[in-house]
Amino acid sequence: MKNKPKFYITTPLYYPSGKWHLGHSYTTVCCDAIARYKRLTGYDVFYLTGTDEHGQKIEERAAAAGKTPKQFVDELVDNIKDLWKLLDIKYDKFIRTTDDYHVSSVQKIFTRLYEQGDIYKATYKGKYCTPCESFWTPSQLVDGKCPDCGRDVIDAEEESYFFRLSKYKEPLRKLLTETDFLEPRSRVNEMVNNFLEDLSDIAVSRTSVKWGIPVPFDPKHTIYVWIDALSNYITALGYNNGEENMKYWPADIHMVGKEIVRFHTIIWPAILMALGLEVPKKVYGHGWMLFGGDKMSKSKGNVADPFVLAERYGIDALRYFLLREIPFGSDGTYTDEAFLNRINADLVNDLGNLVKRTVSMANQYFGGKVDRPKDISGDHADMANALFGKVDKAINKFSCSEALEAIFEFVSASNKYIDSTAPWVLNKNGEKDKLQVVIYNLLEGIRIIAGCLLPFIPDGAQRIFRDLGLSAPDRLDGIKFGDTKRFEVGEGEVLYKRLDVKKELEELSKPSEEEHKEAKKEEEKVAEKEIKEISIDEFFQTQLKVAEVVACEKVEKADKLLKLTLKVGDETRTVVSGIAKSYTPEEMVGKQVVLVANLRPAKLRGIVSEGMVLCAVDGDKVVLVSPERKVDAGSEVC
Ligand code: MSP
Repeated sequence: MKNKPKFYITTPLYYPSGKWHLGHSYTTVCCDAIARYKRLTGYDVFYLTGTDEHGQKIEERAAAAGKTPKQFVDELVDNIKDLWKLLDIKYDKFIRTTDDYHVSSVQKIFTRLYEQGDIYKATYKGKYCTPCESFWTPSQLVDGKCPDCGRDVIDAEEESYFFRLSKYKEPLRKLLTETDFLEPRSRVNEMVNNFLEDLSDIAVSRTSVKWGIPVPFDPKHTIYVWIDALSNYITALGYNNGEENMKYWPADIHMVGKEIVRFHTIIWPAILMALGLEVPKKVYGHGWMLFGGDKMSKSKGNVADPFVLAERYGIDALRYFLLREIPFGSDGTYTDEAFLNRINADLVNDLGNLVKRTVSMANQYFGGKVDRPKDISGDHADMANALFGKVDKAINKFSCSEALEAIFEFVSASNKYIDSTAPWVLNKNGEKDKLQVVIYNLLEGIRIIAGCLLPFIPDGAQRIFRDLGLSAPDRLDGIKFGDTKRFEVGEGEVLYKRLDVKKELEELSKPSEEEHKEAKKEEEKVAEKEIKEISIDEFFQTQLKVAEVVACEKVEKADKLLKLTLKVGDETRTVVSGIAKSYTPEEMVGKQVVLVANLRPAKLRGIVSEGMVLCAVDGDKVVLVSPERKVDAGSEVC
């Protein structure tokens, strides 16, 4: 490892609060591709990922599941580790914020900041949401209400420790505006205008949250989750604890989703400055994987299951889609159809065919053995030689999609090269020398393609090397067209099987076994109709709102279901409702209905339903419950 330049890359620490989805896989796969690329170009890489396990939400979820917080997170951590194994993620360390070494290091960080005056105790005054147990600043409120649950807030006070964030305003401004610390640069203005201008000290302890790291000298307080979580990037290297890997600090890149750029580019560098440590070289705020126009997220229920996709279509398919589909700096969209079409178009048609055709021709025309011809210059060689440079440039900008675009442009060009040189005609005409040049060029080009693909789809790339009769290289830099003296190719296996999109779409829209079980449980609950007394507080946990039907259509192949598009205040919601036997889509439009607005979204016939409309039961029909006269859509029902 000596003399190698070092490269330290991190993902955010994920909250183990529910099912893992494709969004989490995106950042991790992206960092894995970059880490692999750096290893293949001579860097001593440290790739860190892990889980952020403290906080009130996790405490609540665990209680709801009837488990202790530790039991609850342990299961989800096992699960995410299985996912990373399935996706062939080669991280160097997995950190959990419940690990002892992390806990003690965070406590030392907190104590040190307190002792040097960067943390002080004061009374926190603010707007408090009792059910959410959260303080909010006036600017965080939405229409004067809690931004999380939409309920009323009260004025309240709490004793808290504060971090002197305001002291770091000017160094932070310099960092953000005069360096390349934050990328894409388009996010800099947002940080400066929205957060830096009004920078005030932040509360960094809570007395209301029990599931957290205690403040060592005042244990009725727990340390704010973000201080706990952000510190992982140094505690994982042994900070305050032997420093065994602190040589990797500062991080070369923290890769994060755009929603947490603020924590990484304002709070985190300020803490590091206070600790007298260097700030990371770069924070990259990537876009989101959207699902039906929304951020894929556990709380919205609109998630695609990476386990299902990877198991059914293979890891190459999933890795390729994720890396290709979120363009540099912006959002990408997941639909089953886009996923399947992408695999068919790029992996099956372009790449798979190129390899298959070329290896078959090498076997057919040269018995599988193809020697390097005397003259290897030409356009094809130039394009192949330029490819590594393009990939290098893209990866150094952290744009996996651009790197793959460049690789697949050359894949397409290679397929066109087959068509334009028509090796079958050269063979027929007995032009053996020319034929050898063409087949060698193709094989050598494929070798370079496979090399460049190693970081992104390691499995497929290795299989291509096997087809070429070569082993995959340890280093990519210096890869040069013409270095192979002789190919002795294999049989030419089918790299990727063509997917029947229609059939696969049907398969993917079928409820999984798990969904099936859940639906059954729900049905049983309804059937039991166990009437139990509830308190007024329990009743008010149900948020009822008036909604207006702005569009309505039948759900295909489901005679009981209608898909309603509802206007609820400024929001538009989709709700699937079992009222098709009582109402036609036409008569629904314009009606006002009562919506259960805080129901967890559920997928019905492939449509994410975001709530439920209330009806009275009338024999085998239903009658909608509506306000007695028209009111504003979005009005509360209480
Ligand atoms: N625990 C904090 C981060 C602490 S970092 C010190 C957190 N966790 S999270 O589980 O909500 O994960 C957030 C990260 O997961 C995002 O920043 C992003 O990297 C990834 N993604 C989650 N959903 C995503 C999409 N729909 N699309 C792309 N990435 C997303 O925030």
